[in-house]
Amino acid sequence: MNQAAFALGDVLLRSEHVSLAFGDYELDEHGFLKAAEKLVLNDVNLEIHDITRPGMITGQVVGLLGPSGIGKTCFARIIAGLDIPTTGQVLLHNGQPTKAGIVGFVFQNYPLFEDRTVIANLVLAGRQVGLSRAKARDKAMAYLERFKIAQCAKQWPRELSGGQRQRVSIIQQVLCSEYFIVFDEPFSGLDPLMREETIAVVKEIVNEDEKNTAIIITHDVSAAVCSSDRLLLVGRDFDPATHNPVPGARIKYTFDLVALGLAWRTDLYKDPKFLEFVGEIESMFHEL
Ligand SMILES: Nc1ncnc2c1ncn2[C@@H]1O[C@H](COP(=O)(O)OP(=O)(O)OP(=O)(O)O)[C@@H](O)[C@H]1O
Ligand SMILES: [Mg+2]
Repeated sequence: MNQAAFALGDVLLRSEHVSLAFGDYELDEHGFLKAAEKLVLNDVNLEIHDITRPGMITGQVVGLLGPSGIGKTCFARIIAGLDIPTTGQVLLHNGQPTKAGIVGFVFQNYPLFEDRTVIANLVLAGRQVGLSRAKARDKAMAYLERFKIAQCAKQWPRELSGGQRQRVSIIQQVLCSEYFIVFDEPFSGLDPLMREETIAVVKEIVNEDEKNTAIIITHDVSAAVCSSDRLLLVGRDFDPATHNPVPGARIKYTFDLVALGLAWRTDLYKDPKFLEFVGEIESMFHEL
């Protein structure tokens, strides 16, 4: 594949000076955080561009990596409009602030309405964005078939396996969101085959529309590299005098997997460059 043939188009999502504090805090005259009791995110800035390739639909997949407790889920919830940052904002491609319902969020435990069947859960998701019942049902059934779980349509959520539940939850968020989906730890607790299938499902969804963008939060470095075109490493700075971390995480490192020749590949596992890169990223966790 000619990896050189791509271009960066419009900004689809922009995080501007996002900070998040819990407890008491103080702002300066410019609206920036001056002091905070518990600072989780400190001035997080990010732009996700539409990547285009001639003759093909290319969605975006951004992997967000970082140590446990650093603030990944907090940032993802802000991106999805589920929480409001203490300072700053997240804007979408149309310049509007992010909003729940536009950005989907696939939670780690895959919540579904337990008193509704799979198909009823999915029809409800489609109805939320204004689809007629019939259209929502048709779309839901088409996705269930594509992801090989059409036989689950009439089952109750409690009757699903973990992997089936994950797929239903992904379809639910695809149906009720527009272009953007955040996945919080989609690979945890999956066997290697399911993990591979999840990566395939994410890629398939993302490549349905040029603007589709997935943000994947994970500790699984190799799955992140396999699925993403860009990796972001979230961490804190260290005080040079004490070597203690300074409160408030930010995006410390960005890797362009396209430029590294590691994006959009199906043969990645076989490339020694892949294993080497995964090892490099894993060792960088010490600096986060
Ligand atoms: N409502 C809250 N009140 C106070 N602190 C909170 C609240 N929610 C999250 N935190 C803190 O924010 C920090 C970041 O949490 P977050 O869940 O974003 O971490 P994470 O990077 O997703 O970790 P993990 O990889 O373990 O899921 C943690 O120290 C957590 O205790
Ligand atoms: Mg988390």
